[in-house]
This record gives sequence, C-alpha cells and structure tokens, in this order.
Amino acid sequence: MADARDLLDAGERLGPEELRALQLERLRASLRHAYERVPFYRASFDKAGIRPEDCRSPADLARFPFTTKADLRTNYPFGMFAVPRERIRRLHASSGTTGRPTVVGYTENDLSMWSDMVARSIRAAGGRPGDVVHVAYGYGLFTGGLGAHYGAERLGCTVVPASGGMTARQVQLIQDLEPAVIMVTPSYMLTLLDEFERQGVDPRTTSLRVGIFGAEPWTEQMRREIEERFAIDAVDIYGLSEVVGPGVAQECVETKDGLTVWEDHFYPEVIDPVTGEVLPEGERGELVFTSLTKEAMPIVRYRTRDLTRLLPGTARVFRRMEKISGRSDDLVILRGVNLFPTQIEEIVLRTPGVAPHFQLRLTREGRMDSLTVRAEARAGATPQAREAAARSIVTAVKNGIGVSVDVEIVEPESLERSVGKIRRIVDLRPRDTGRG
Ligand code: DLL
Repeated sequence: MADARDLLDAGERLGPEELRALQLERLRASLRHAYERVPFYRASFDKAGIRPEDCRSPADLARFPFTTKADLRTNYPFGMFAVPRERIRRLHASSGTTGRPTVVGYTENDLSMWSDMVARSIRAAGGRPGDVVHVAYGYGLFTGGLGAHYGAERLGCTVVPASGGMTARQVQLIQDLEPAVIMVTPSYMLTLLDEFERQGVDPRTTSLRVGIFGAEPWTEQMRREIEERFAIDAVDIYGLSEVVGPGVAQECVETKDGLTVWEDHFYPEVIDPVTGEVLPEGERGELVFTSLTKEAMPIVRYRTRDLTRLLPGTARVFRRMEKISGRSDDLVILRGVNLFPTQIEEIVLRTPGVAPHFQLRLTREGRMDSLTVRAEARAGATPQAREAAARSIVTAVKNGIGVSVDVEIVEPESLERSVGKIRRIVDLRPRDTGRG
C-alpha cells in the first residue's frame, strides 16, 4: 500500500525521542492521577514506599507495585474509579466465570481515545474510510462489539453491528451488504466458514478483503487456514477490558509480524511471572500494562497473564509484541510437561484429514492426568485417513511437545461451535485435588 504512511495519525508519526518524552510525561501524570484519586493506589504505593514523582524514566516504573485481577475484584464495582460516578459515560464488565465480574468504566475522553485506537487498528489492518465493516464480536458488556463498532465509525466506515450468533443470517448479511472488513473471533470465523459451505457459497467469492481477529489466542496455522479459505488478509487485534478493550495492539497488514503496541497510550512491560522482574526486550514472559491517558480507571502495572515477548518496531515507531502463545491460566501441566492449547492448534491444523476444530479433554485416573485431543474428521475422510490423522497427531505431540496424549477423531460437525471466545479445555478432573 503506497499511500499507507500518509494516513498515519499524529501519534504514529512521532520520532523515537519524541515518543519517549511523551510516554514519560504521560506516565508521570497518570501515576499522579491514580495516586491522588484512587485509595487503592495510594495505599499500594505508600506500602511500597514509592511516590509518583519517583518515576523519572520509564525504567523507574519497575519500582511500582503490580495490580491484579484480584485487586479489581476486591474493589468491585467502582472502587478503582478515579472520577465521580457521574462522569462515567459507560461501563463494561468481564464475563466473570468464577466469582464476581470485574467492572470497568470510561469517561467521554476515554471513549474517544478508545475509538481513536480502534480506528488506528482498523486502518493498520488495511481498512479504509468508506469501507463496510461487519462486526461479529458480541455486543453488550463484553468490550469486543461496541469497541470495534465505535472505532469503525471513527475511521469513517459503514458499520454492520451483527454481534455474535444467528450464523445463517450473518452469511446472508455478508453476501448482501458486501463488507470489505470483518471483525470477529477467529473461532467464530471458522463457524461462519462452515455455514458458507452449508449454504453452498464459495467463501473466496465474498467482498471481504480483511479480517481482524482477536479476543482469544490463535496461531499462524490458523491465519493460513482462514486466509486461504476466504481469500482475505487475516490480522491480529489484541486488548483487554481492564486496559481498555480491543485496540491495545494491532498487527499491521503490510508486515504481519506480530502486533504493534499503541504505546503512546498503553505502556507495556514483560516480566518473569514468578519473580516479577522486568525482562529485557526479546525475552518471553507475562505482559504487563500501564495506561498513560485513561481518566476513569487508570491502571498501573496490570498483570494480564498473557504470555508473549516485546520486539522492536517495524511498520511503526512503536514496539511490537509477538502473537500471544497463551494465558498462564490456560497452561496445562501434564505429567510435568507444560502445554498450551495453541501448540495443539498448530499440530491439528497441519494434519490432513481433520477439520480445524478441536477440543482438549483433561481427565484423571488415580493420580495420573491424561489429555485427550478430540479433533473433527473432515467430511469424507475415510476410516484409514482418520486413523492416519490420529497417529500423526499423537506422534507430532510426542515429538514436538514431549508428552503422550490420546487422540480421538470425532464425526464432522460434532464438536461444539464457537459464537464468541472459544473454550478449548474441558477439565473433567475432580475438583478437590490440585489443578495443574
Ligand atoms: O477480549 C477484548 C478484545 C475484543 C480483544 C475483541 C480483541 C478483539 P477481555 O474479554 O477482557 O477483552 O479478554 C481479554 O482475551 O487478556 C487475552 O487473554 C485474550 N485476548 C484478547 N485478544 C487476544 C489476541 C477482550 N489477539 C483477554 N490473542 C486477554 C490472544 C487475546 N489472546
């Protein structure tokens, strides 16, 4: 795209020195805002014996305490807010599968900044003003739908607020309204793929040019699968409610080399998840974010539990993060071997005879944990092809990850389909005994 650089916004055009200066100024202001307005931060900074003015360079951030999901739960619902409730224009909440949900809030300015970051993300993905954007992230308390929606409007696109579900209708809308861009979880994109095929429509013939996929981990193999089956560019969008929602980092379509972190608004660090030490650029660990411009809910050193590493910038001045390999919560420790669902995804998606749908079932007999990979046969795969696929997955997991698993090839279209974030792991181990 020859004209791509002309489209960059002011933040993306900063030079490296200007960026560092802006980050430091914003960091200091944000730490002060948090300390002065949120009792939780005042107490945690005081306990650590540190004051906002002690931050004289971004490296000093390492001396400030972390914030965790548990802290947000303890301060539920409004305890982390730095402005009076009347100044909050919108609330979102995490699903909260266990215990209380976490609530996040936005002022008018926060919503505007968020829209700017999503608009920037869609543009980096290859979307342009005037494009029709089909948003199939869920609308509601989840940040995906409304976050994508307002960002697409901000860029000057025509938005189709499809939300998740009613899959047959989604396919109809895509054919009739001719979107250039789709924003959806990668797992739901596969559900749409099945539906295109069920309706006898070749998914390569749609108007879609770009897919912006996130809200769950996905692999390079999945990118290839989606790009080939739909004839589109597939790029990765990252974000989390506690930091803002989608639009914290975005992969640029011209490089497809990991996600550019919009670090003029969200300052990233990668830490050793055990010791909490900040790791040098290039080393893998847990991603931590500090907001630089948020008013309603400034967040200081939030531990995301997402695992990645930071890399130097390529398409933009900002640093990149590698595609997320998994969340520490999704780590399966099987007989001492660490395993993430994404590692299985890579293997299943390159195995002939199986569809890109799989589930991981954890069971325990006595004190022995077992993992069964349940993968779906492709329609028409012969019994021999299914057996070969099962053997090939067993061998690839043994050689590549170093652990023995069982593989069950199930009937086509028998595994539950995603309408939003997919749940890969079904943990059937007894509840009372310790979990990996
Ligand atoms: O999932 C925000 C979002 C919506 C991002 C739409 C992208 C697209 P939460 O529900 O708070 O927010 O979940 C955040 O989802 O900590 C990651 O574990 C995971 N996640 C989000 N994006 C990605 C991604 C939204 N691109 C949690 N790759 C995060 C891997 C992702 N994991």
